Amino acid sequence: MIPVVRTKKALAVLVDGWRRKGLSVGFVPTMGALHPGHAALVRRAARENDKTIVSVFVNPLQFGPNEDYGRYPRALPADRKLVAAAGASAVYAPSVEEMYPKGFRTHVEVEGLSDLYCGRYRPGHFRGVATVVLKLFNQVQADRAYFGEKDWQQVRILETMIRDLDVGVVLVRVPIVREKDGLAMSSRNAYLSPAERRAAPALRRALEAGRKEARRPHSRLETVAAAVRHALAGTGLKLQYAAPLDGRLLAAAYLGKTRLIDNIRL
Ligand code: PAF
Repeated sequence: MIPVVRTKKALAVLVDGWRRKGLSVGFVPTMGALHPGHAALVRRAARENDKTIVSVFVNPLQFGPNEDYGRYPRALPADRKLVAAAGASAVYAPSVEEMYPKGFRTHVEVEGLSDLYCGRYRPGHFRGVATVVLKLFNQVQADRAYFGEKDWQQVRILETMIRDLDVGVVLVRVPIVREKDGLAMSSRNAYLSPAERRAAPALRRALEAGRKEARRPHSRLETVAAAVRHALAGTGLKLQYAAPLDGRLLAAAYLGKTRLIDNIRL
């Protein structure tokens, strides 16, 4: 079974050993509770690099006070098996103290983009994401890092951070992996009751309704959002926002207590 390293020091020893042999390193950052969407990221990384590190760290900095940090699913033994089967070389699973020792006070803010869309409803979320990802990049020292397009806004923010702060890693975008019924795979799908799970694919269908409206000659942002909202009527999903960003239509909706996000090409 592949090793699990717990400290920055042990990680540096491992990666330095690879580097001395001239091996390339791929990196897949995750919060664990892994599913086939993550496996696709790891497979791609393993294909394009000699060695692949997967981090598993539920980052407290990116959760709001009333969000699901405490109940976020944690499943390290299963995660380790899944990523080993997908071709990973090691798992990096630091503790909160290892990542944020006493006195930690530096944060990364990608201004503007972080306050829109999901950022509007999750204040501080993207600052927490950018901060932990820059730390992980510095710790892992990978050549390439792999991110899923389900988190489209996250990808755009991290690409901006990499450009603005001259981070020496190439970000590779990997397409969304969906269930057979169209639901985008997400660790949070585990929260859904059987009835909610049956309702959840409505989000993807509503995005398609939004896209249809967006392609009409006189459509506007409001009419596109209204088409998505209309398509969700009676499904149990409550739309938070639907908005276009760089040729994609993004949406977030609540199903009971679970917040789902998705996006499609416009
Ligand atoms: O996408 C995620 O799972 C997280 O936001 C990430 C990139 C691992 C940072 O905690």
